[in-house]
Amino acid sequence: MRHLMNPMDFSVEELEKLFDLAADIEKDPEKYAHKCTGKKLATCFYEPSTRTRLSFESAMLNLGGSVIGFSDAGSSSASKGESVSDTIRVISCFADICAMRHPKEGAPMVAASHSSIPVINAGDGGHQHPTQTLTDLLTIRSLKGRLCDFTIGICGDLKFGRTVHSLVNALSRYSGIKFVFISPEELRIPGYLREKLWENALTFEEVIRLEDVMSKLDLLYMTRVQRERFFNEEDYVRLKDFYILNKAKMALAKEDCLVLHPLPRVNEISVEVDSDPRAVYFKQVQYGVYVRMALILTLLELV
Ligand code: CP
Repeated sequence: MRHLMNPMDFSVEELEKLFDLAADIEKDPEKYAHKCTGKKLATCFYEPSTRTRLSFESAMLNLGGSVIGFSDAGSSSASKGESVSDTIRVISCFADICAMRHPKEGAPMVAASHSSIPVINAGDGGHQHPTQTLTDLLTIRSLKGRLCDFTIGICGDLKFGRTVHSLVNALSRYSGIKFVFISPEELRIPGYLREKLWENALTFEEVIRLEDVMSKLDLLYMTRVQRERFFNEEDYVRLKDFYILNKAKMALAKEDCLVLHPLPRVNEISVEVDSDPRAVYFKQVQYGVYVRMALILTLLELV
């Protein structure tokens, strides 16, 4: 039995297979419409979500399976003090696979170690968000035709952003990737990630102004400054509108520079950018369903 805690749990070759499967699902969804008949997915979300939870649920329903779960810790027995390890033992009696989001880093890992069904980390604190990374990689592969040889700008909250940490780890395994980290001083990438990039001789630079680097990017990954990760409101208010991608900044970008965002967005991308063909963050959501379908099939060993 296999879990997914971190995008690095899958080798590059395994990811290629997963993305090929997701691409086939996109091409011929009917072929997969009954693959999970009789199977249940449990979504255990201790933290708010729109995309990830509903994307998992859509994925399972598209595969002919069914879904149970909770979307709020307050409506689960966690509010009575039940541990994650007890909860997953119980969920294992009800479902065949579980997607778990939790505000505490490592909680899905604890669940996996007590589970008799596959557990997928659907985001743990500021740590990892592997299925968002699978979504991001599939989007890039589908729209750019490759996962190597590009310059990617990653902008916003690079310190607390779990989508950023997972994506940087995952992309580090492909050749010819240059990272440009764009953040205020207070939200720079964590030291451990910087050291890892140095150790692996990966090319990266850190800058503060988006305008200074816009013209060299093949991909721009925007992220939200996350109110829920700040210790005080004052810092959040000071930093929340540090970056606002608008038409004027898009005018500096390459003609084929794609703009991604894990969403939700707040102010960091102006709605005037949505109609720009290079803005692909809503397409990204659709790729998220295909890749989660492929992941469920893979972890349930139905392919
Ligand atoms: N991208 C993402 O994780 O969105 P949600 O928080 O809505 O699931």
